[in-house]
Amino acid sequence: MIPKMKKILAVSLVCVGSLSLAARAAETKSNWEDNCAKCHGPDGKGDKPMGKKLHIADFTDASVQAKFTDAQAFAAIKEGLKDADGKTRMKAIEGLSDDEITALVQYVRKMKPTP
Ligand code: HEC
Repeated sequence: MIPKMKKILAVSLVCVGSLSLAARAAETKSNWEDNCAKCHGPDGKGDKPMGKKLHIADFTDASVQAKFTDAQAFAAIKEGLKDADGKTRMKAIEGLSDDEITALVQYVRKMKPTP
């Protein structure tokens, strides 16, 4: 292959890669808005009426983020979350693939305010 073509190929591959990253980010945001925001709020603060009713913790608070691991967050989304008395706090969220759930966990982690 002639060097110039190689360069063009490399550049276009990078473009395709970042496009799909951006698409994934947008998809994760809309997954959050469709499935999570009604309880956790659009920004994860949980300060909307539904979040207040459920006494949802504020995901932008680092001490709240420290209370669960990525694996626990994943399990809460996939299987739901119960309180100490066995009462359902958060139902399993249906219709998300494992990849989408992993992306949502990362999305939640980014809600931590940068110090
Ligand atoms: C019906 C309301 C509701 C919906 C919808 C909901 N959650 Fe929750 N979620 C809760 C409640 C209540 C808790 C309990 C934690 C608390 O006290 O703040 C919780 C806890 C969590 C936790 C912490 C898990 C842990 O181990 O403490 C994560 C992470 C989470 N939710 C992510 C999500 C994501 C992502 C979605 C959307 C895919 C979602 N939630 C949808 C109500 C909801």
